Amino acid sequence: MNSVQEVRILAIESSCDETAAAVVVNGRDVRSNIISSQIDIHTLYGGVVPEIASRKHMERINQVIAQALDTAGMSLDDLDAVAVTYGPGLVGALLVGVAEAKAVAYAKKLPLLGVHHIEGHISANYIENKDLEPPFLCLVVSGGHTHLVQVRDYGVYEVVGRTRDDAAGEAFDKVARAIGLGYPGGPKIEKAACAGNADAIYFPRAKVGGSDYDFSFSGLKSSVLNYLNGCKMKNIPVNQADVAASFQKAVIDVLVSHAVHAMEQYGVKKFAIAGGVASNTALRSSMKAACKERDVHFYYPSPVLCTDNAAMIGTAAYYDYIAGRRDGWNLNAVPNLKLG
Ligand code: KG4
Ligand code: ZN
Repeated sequence: MNSVQEVRILAIESSCDETAAAVVVNGRDVRSNIISSQIDIHTLYGGVVPEIASRKHMERINQVIAQALDTAGMSLDDLDAVAVTYGPGLVGALLVGVAEAKAVAYAKKLPLLGVHHIEGHISANYIENKDLEPPFLCLVVSGGHTHLVQVRDYGVYEVVGRTRDDAAGEAFDKVARAIGLGYPGGPKIEKAACAGNADAIYFPRAKVGGSDYDFSFSGLKSSVLNYLNGCKMKNIPVNQADVAASFQKAVIDVLVSHAVHAMEQYGVKKFAIAGGVASNTALRSSMKAACKERDVHFYYPSPVLCTDNAAMIGTAAYYDYIAGRRDGWNLNAVPNLKLG
């Protein structure tokens, strides 16, 4: 450890289309959080192209790390550990971060820590909520995941519910494309929805057999596509804002009702949201109201900490570090890594 008894972690995140690096001190003190987004390139193709993502990570990662160290006012010699997302995600994209983290850790003789991407999203809540400690219930809603997770302790998770098909963010992205809003869909739908009537069209709220907490969004997506086809066949103009608002409401209703059910069944006093979709203002306010009604403390990260970033990876890694967990040089990218 350095002379000032701080744990300084360089964290790297490259699981999808953001090349990110951060320096996090003692878990919750973010000294830098650099995110190089590839959205402009992927927008041209209407979604993330895995091979382009890997190539762009390779081009940018060294510069992003240099910037993270520079902003934190540190050099590689000031670090205590290197952390990296090793799954789940796009395998080629993950590999760039994992190889880079190994190279830095090996060269500087530092411990290496592989972090689960969803654990990172959950841990984003610790950064601005200095008093938040497990246990709590967390809804992780992103482009690749929709998980309802009981956070029993640092690093100890029980997945209570998950999507059986599309993730919530994936549904936002697919519906946005169908109504001509383009990629990434979430923020565009949210914006369009502001001018629409959320009760204009009724889209179904799916129940999943065999589980009270699992989600399904592919039926909702199909229902929107059927509605759009119906309008086309009948030559009725589509009100983009009404579709966006009605779809968004259907997603939020399902997320809130499952979360509330789990809060009540598990008797939780603390509830958090995480992941890209957690930056949605309508979702945040519905969750906030539902928690308030039940006297449950509601936690949520700032939007920049909801979408992919490396600060959340550094925070998660800190709790592994102080628990003494370390990874070996055989750490590999695991595209379908399970949580818990
Ligand atoms: O967490 P994230 O950056 O990446 C993954 O791990 O997947 O989440 C990206 C997802 C995308 O599907 C994007 O459309 C969605 O989060 N998203 C939103 C909003 N901002 C991002 N969805 C709804 N409303 C938003 N404001
Ligand atoms: Zn993510």
